[in-house]
Amino acid sequence: MTEITLDTRLAKTKIDRNIYGHFSEHLGRCIYEGYWVDGDSKIPNVRGIRQDVVQALRKIKVPVLRWPGGCFADEYHWMDGIGPREKRPAMINTHWGGLVENNHFGTHEFMDLCEQLECEPYFCGNVGSGTVQEMSQWVEYITFDGLSPMANLRKANGRSEPWKLKYFGVGNENWGCGGRMDPEYYADLYKRYGVYARNYGENKLYRIACGARNDDYYWTEVLMREAGGNDNRGPFMDGLALHYYTSVERLPDGTLLGDATHFDEAKWIEIVSKGLMMDELVNRHATVMDKYDPDKKVAMVVDEWGTWFAAEEGTNPRFLYQQNTMRDAIVASTTLDIFNKHCDRVRMANIAQTVNVLQAMILTQKEKMLLTPSYHVFEMYTVHQDATMVPVDVQCERYEHSGYSVPAISASASVDAAGKLHLTLSNTNPNKDIFLKVHVGGLKASQVQGRFLQASTMNAHNTFENPDVVKPREFCGAKVSGAELEIAMPKMSVVVLEVL
Ligand code: AHR
Repeated sequence: MTEITLDTRLAKTKIDRNIYGHFSEHLGRCIYEGYWVDGDSKIPNVRGIRQDVVQALRKIKVPVLRWPGGCFADEYHWMDGIGPREKRPAMINTHWGGLVENNHFGTHEFMDLCEQLECEPYFCGNVGSGTVQEMSQWVEYITFDGLSPMANLRKANGRSEPWKLKYFGVGNENWGCGGRMDPEYYADLYKRYGVYARNYGENKLYRIACGARNDDYYWTEVLMREAGGNDNRGPFMDGLALHYYTSVERLPDGTLLGDATHFDEAKWIEIVSKGLMMDELVNRHATVMDKYDPDKKVAMVVDEWGTWFAAEEGTNPRFLYQQNTMRDAIVASTTLDIFNKHCDRVRMANIAQTVNVLQAMILTQKEKMLLTPSYHVFEMYTVHQDATMVPVDVQCERYEHSGYSVPAISASASVDAAGKLHLTLSNTNPNKDIFLKVHVGGLKASQVQGRFLQASTMNAHNTFENPDVVKPREFCGAKVSGAELEIAMPKMSVVVLEVL
C-alpha cells in the first residue's frame, strides 16, 4: 500500500518561482530558428521574435531565462551584439559546431524577448576569455541611469532608459569549457570580476558564482569558504550554481550510448534513476553550504539540468537536438519535486535549453512548432510557483528492473495564496498502475480535481505530423474520502490535483 501523509499546517517555506526557470544558449537552433527569425520571415514575429514560441512559453510562466550560455558565454563578447545588425561583426561559435554566429541576437534582442515573455533576465558574463572591464561595461551599458560612456552608447543604440537587471552569473563552468580553472583560482577571479560588476543607482545585482559539476563537493567547499561565508561583510555571492545532466553512458570519445526515443525498459529506469541522483547532489552540496552559511543566505542555483542523449539521427551532433518522451517528463517531474523539497536552499533552477536543444519545452521546424511532454510537466507544475511548500512523507513500493531500484511514486505539495492545496504525483513504473492514499491534515477536503499526462508507450512522443500524442487530459482517478484522498495513479504518468 502506498501512503502519503501531509499537513498543510506545516507549510512554511516558499517555493521560489525561479525554480521553474529556463536556460537558452547560442547553440544549434535554440536562439536562431527557436526564438529568432531574422529579416522578413513569414513566421509571425514581433521585432524578430517568433510569437508562437512566446505564447507557448507564457503559458508555463517562465519566471527567469539564463543567456547567452553555457560554454558560449565564456567566448561571447557582448559589444559584437549591439548596434545596427548589418554592421555587427560575425564570430565563430567554436563550442557548438564551429558555425558562424552573426550576432543578430544580442543584448537588446534578449531584453526584448524577456519583456515579451514577462520574465526576469539572467545574464551570464564572460570570465574565460573576457576582461574585467568588458564585464563591468556590460553591466554599466544595461543598468546605468545617467551620463556615462556605456549609457550613452546604449542611448545611441535606441534605448534611453536603463533596464532593470537582477541576475548576473560570473562565468560558466570555469572548471571546464570556461577556462579549466582550479576552484581557488576561480574564487579569486569571481571576487575580482564580481566587484566591478557594479550596482548602479537602484539596480542591485544578484551575483551568481560558477558552481560545481555533479558531485565535485570540493569546488563548493572552496567557493563557499572564499566568497560565500558570513564574515562581517556578509557573503560576496547571492547564489552558487550547480550543473547536473541526466545522461546515458558516454564513451571516452564522447559517443553517447542511447538516444531520446529508441530505448527499452532498462534504459527507462537507468535514466529515471540517474535523474533522482539530483536529490543526493542537492543534499550534499547543501550540507557543504550550511557549514559556511547556516542562515542559507546564499541560494543554490541549479542553472543547468535536464536530460542529455545522443542527438537525433540526421542532425548535427553539436546542435544537441533531441526528441522528448514520457521518460523526459518523469525526469522533469521528479527533479522538480526534488527542488520543491529543498526550496529552503534551491531558489533557482534553469532547465537546458527551452527550444530545440537538449530537454526542450518546444521543438520547431520552420513555421511549425510542437510542445514536448516536458513542456506539459512545466505547465502542470505552475501551481507550485511561489506557493508555500507542504512537506510530504511518501511511503511507497519500489520499482525495480535491470539492477536499478527507484521509488515508484514521487510527490510535491504546496498551498497557494488563495489557500488551495496542490499535489503533483508521478508514477515512475511503466508497467503498473498504483493505488495510493493521501492523508491530508490541516484542511477539510471536500473536492478534488485534476489532470494527468501519460503516453501509450514509453517511447511515444509528439511529432510535427502528430503534435498531440502526449498531452494532459482530465484525471478522474482521485476521490475524497473524509480526511483522505484515494488515487489510482496510472502507470508512467504525472498527475496534478487541486484539493478544495
Ligand atoms: O547545455 C549545454 C552545455 O552543457 C553548456 O553550454 C555547458 O555549460 C554545459 O556543459
